[in-house]
Amino acid sequence: MFKVHAVAPNRLNALLKAMPKAELHIHIEGSLEPELIFKMAERNGVQLPFADVAAMRAAYAFTDLQSFLDLYYAGASVLLHEQDFYDMAWAYFEKAAADHVVRAELFFDPQTHTARGVPMAAVIEGLSRACRDAQTALNISADLILCFLRHLPEADALATLEAALPWRAHFIGVGLDSSEVGNPPENFSRVFAKARALGLHVVAHAGEEGPPAYIWSALQELQVERIDHGVQAIHDAALMAHLVKHQTPLTVCPLSNLKLCVFKQLSDHNLGQMLEAGVCVTINSDDPAYFGGYLNDNYVQTFAALHLDAQSAYKLAANSIEASFATLEQKHHWMHQLKQCFQGFSEQD
Ligand code: HPA
Ligand code: ZN
Repeated sequence: MFKVHAVAPNRLNALLKAMPKAELHIHIEGSLEPELIFKMAERNGVQLPFADVAAMRAAYAFTDLQSFLDLYYAGASVLLHEQDFYDMAWAYFEKAAADHVVRAELFFDPQTHTARGVPMAAVIEGLSRACRDAQTALNISADLILCFLRHLPEADALATLEAALPWRAHFIGVGLDSSEVGNPPENFSRVFAKARALGLHVVAHAGEEGPPAYIWSALQELQVERIDHGVQAIHDAALMAHLVKHQTPLTVCPLSNLKLCVFKQLSDHNLGQMLEAGVCVTINSDDPAYFGGYLNDNYVQTFAALHLDAQSAYKLAANSIEASFATLEQKHHWMHQLKQCFQGFSEQD
């Protein structure tokens, strides 16, 4: 066990920023800032339902997941060309580098784009080129996870997976996102079985707004390796015990949960309880352009609201690295860096 020394309260935020960490739950379309949306709308000749950036930002007052998704899909309508996908991901990587993200696993929603006539090649090749440049220019290891939209039929997901296969080498896994309630994981068991047979990693959103039964279904029917969100697990003791026993990672997104009214206030968030119970929780940004903060903002605000300490910081960063789909060698390297970072902070105290 690595011994974490206490860190002075006034230095905790600096530690949170400096520590190497992985981001495992980021929808790249949710990193599209209004400024970039307007720039792309202009260069692509796309009409937006907002007069300007300020009017768009003013509309970011959500009541639940669906109220956000409606705007999120509207924002994504400006993405047409390979360069647009590259520029979107590159803007995210620059923010991630500032937050000392060493590993990023990016969700993308091909159906949102192919349904508008955008070629699969433009989507995947633009994002993939940005991932390669993130490694060479920013030293961020980055990979893509293709998400299926659960409000559409499984047949669409199967066709999407098929259409993406020429680029099989460009993504490492599949996920499941969009409107949760009424669209349970088991509806997608065939497409997930196919993805697993192809050697892809599998994850799914479950228990963001939906019941614990959806988390069970994602685990048992889809055989996912991680649960995205999963905060509703707290209402099912047997599920909590299962998550602890199997150390199934949860990619929790505190500011997202706050903005989508999953919790009334950040101080009501159950991340601290989950951590205490021994669940493998991680902190992530989800859709940072819409929810008011990138990864470090999520750490800083959650730590302040829940009064978490350096021990929790170490655990959360270590969980993020260990729960990633990076190689064992990469994980070993980042864990070493993480320990060095904490030692540096304790020596300065
Ligand atoms: N939940 C479901 N679908 C999504 C989300 C989310 O938080 N963000 C983008 N698509
Ligand atoms: Zn999400």
